[in-house]
Amino acid sequence: AQRFTVAIDGPAAAGKGTLAKLIAAHYGLPHLDTGLLYRAVGRKAADLGLDLDDPDAAGAVARSLTPSALDDGSLRGREAGELASRVAVHPSVRSALETFQRDFAGQPAGAVLDGRDIGTVIAPDAEVKIFVTASPEVRARRRTDELAAKGRAPDYERILAEVRERDLRDAGRATAPLKPAADAHLLDTSEMAIDAAFLAARELIDGFL
Ligand code: C5P
Repeated sequence: AQRFTVAIDGPAAAGKGTLAKLIAAHYGLPHLDTGLLYRAVGRKAADLGLDLDDPDAAGAVARSLTPSALDDGSLRGREAGELASRVAVHPSVRSALETFQRDFAGQPAGAVLDGRDIGTVIAPDAEVKIFVTASPEVRARRRTDELAAKGRAPDYERILAEVRERDLRDAGRATAPLKPAADAHLLDTSEMAIDAAFLAARELIDGFL
């Protein structure tokens, strides 16, 4: 079979992660959720009491990251996402995580990676690039519903404010800002359920194969 790499980028809560998992399972490709790397760095820096805005301190944490740090269940939560986006602005952090991601993207079996800069920086030669978006309101609504389904009592307005804040920080930073690669396919899931988004992604990939 032909090897290929799929780069999936987009803002928080657009459905990238779910889509990446479905694609990886369908095509039998290894999957890397790159947000987890930044989350682990943010979490560890915070646990150590370091200043998240200090590029040297955060960079040192990123260089010392080990795979076992990714197993922490709390990394999936909102707080870790916030910590991640603060340390992700530092070039020292981004470059420390780059080799691991590039190696993953280049492995002989092919790969699926999801993040913010996969199609632009980590795997600019990826055979298929998909930029997944949805309106901030739809993304905040999905997050709110997810939390409600877990028995929590989420505040939609507050989550919407967090979504907007994270968008601004991720798209506004100087290094590797969130933006579609020139050759990325845009997939707006605002009015699409996940199975429809998955079908659209498969059409793109099958069109390449
Ligand atoms: O995708 P996820 O929500 O887990 O990412 C958390 C944060 O990590 C993002 O808001 C972003 O600031 C950062 N990130 C990044 N580059 C990536 C993946 C995540 O800057 N490739």
